[in-house]
Amino acid sequence: MPEIKNTIIIKTIDEMRTFTAEAKMRKSGLGLVPTMGALHDGHLSLIRRSVSENDLTVVSIFVNPIQFNDTADLEAYPKTLSTDADLAAEAGAAVIFAPDADEMYPKGFSTYVDMAGITEKLCGASRDSHFKGVLTVVNKLFCIVDPERAYFGEKDIQQLTIVKKMVSDLCMNIEIVECPTIREDDGLAMSSRNKRLGPEERIASRSIFLALTAAKALYDKGEKSPEKLTFIMQDIIKKEPLLRIDYAELVDPENFETPEAAKSGNLLMLAVNAGEVRLIDNMRL
Ligand code: PAJ
Repeated sequence: MPEIKNTIIIKTIDEMRTFTAEAKMRKSGLGLVPTMGALHDGHLSLIRRSVSENDLTVVSIFVNPIQFNDTADLEAYPKTLSTDADLAAEAGAAVIFAPDADEMYPKGFSTYVDMAGITEKLCGASRDSHFKGVLTVVNKLFCIVDPERAYFGEKDIQQLTIVKKMVSDLCMNIEIVECPTIREDDGLAMSSRNKRLGPEERIASRSIFLALTAAKALYDKGEKSPEKLTFIMQDIIKKEPLLRIDYAELVDPENFETPEAAKSGNLLMLAVNAGEVRLIDNMRL
C-alpha cells in the first residue's frame, strides 16, 4: 500500500490564503497544479513533478463553470472529490483547494481576463468564451495560492500557450512548467472525459492518436504541405463513423496559424467529437 500523507482539503479562499502565508513564513515554496478533478495519471504526473520541484504542492480541484459553453457538458463533468483527494495525497500533495462555485464567483462578480488573437482560434473558435473562463480562473487561482511554479499539460497545448502568454503579458512572477502528455496503452491521451465514452466510442477514439502519428510519419518522410498533412488526419478520422471532426490543423505554436510549409516544432492539432464527448489531442513535428 502506498503511504497516504495527511493532505488538507481547503474549501475557502481565506483558509487558502492563511495556508500560503504560513508556508511563506516558513520559507516553503509552493507549486500549484490547477485541475477540474476526476484525476487520472495525466494529472498525477503534474502533481508528482510539482512535488519533486517544490516544498509544498497545492492541487486545485474546481469545475470552473465559466469555461463551459455547454451546460450539458458542465453537468456531465465527473465529480469525484473524495477519490481525487486520496489520489492527490498518494502523489504527495499537501493541500487540495476545492472551493464551491459561489466562493470563486460570488454574486456581483464581473471582472474577467481576456486575450485577443490565439484565443480565437481552434478550441476558442468552437467554444465561445472558453479561454476567457480559463484565464480568469487561472488568474484567480494564482492570486489566491501565490505559487512559485504552476504546472500545465501539453495535452491542452493551446491552453498552456495562452497561460504562458498571460503570465508574460501581465508580468506575473510565476514559472509555468510544461508537462508531457500521458497516454493510455493504445495511445489515447488521458482525459477526464474518456470515462464518458461508450465501449465502441472508446475503441473508435484510438484513431485520434493514429491520425496524429500518421501525419507525423508523413512529415518525417519529407512531406511539407500543411494540406496533405491535415488531409491524412481527416481521412483516418473519417473512417470511424462514430467520430466527427471539429478541427484538424497544422499550426505554428507562436500564433496558432497555419504556416505555408510545415517545419519542425509545428503542431498537429485535432479536436473530435465522439457522441457527446469532445476530445482534443496534439503532436509536435
Ligand atoms: P483539467 O482538464 O482537469 O486538466 C488539468 C491539467 O492537467 C491541465 O494542465 C491539463 O493539460 C493536464 N492534463 C490533462 N490530461 C493530461 C494528460 N493526459 N497528460 C498530461 N497532462 C494532462 O485543464 C483544465 O483542467 C482546466 O482548464 C484548468 C486549467 C484547471 C482551469 O479550469
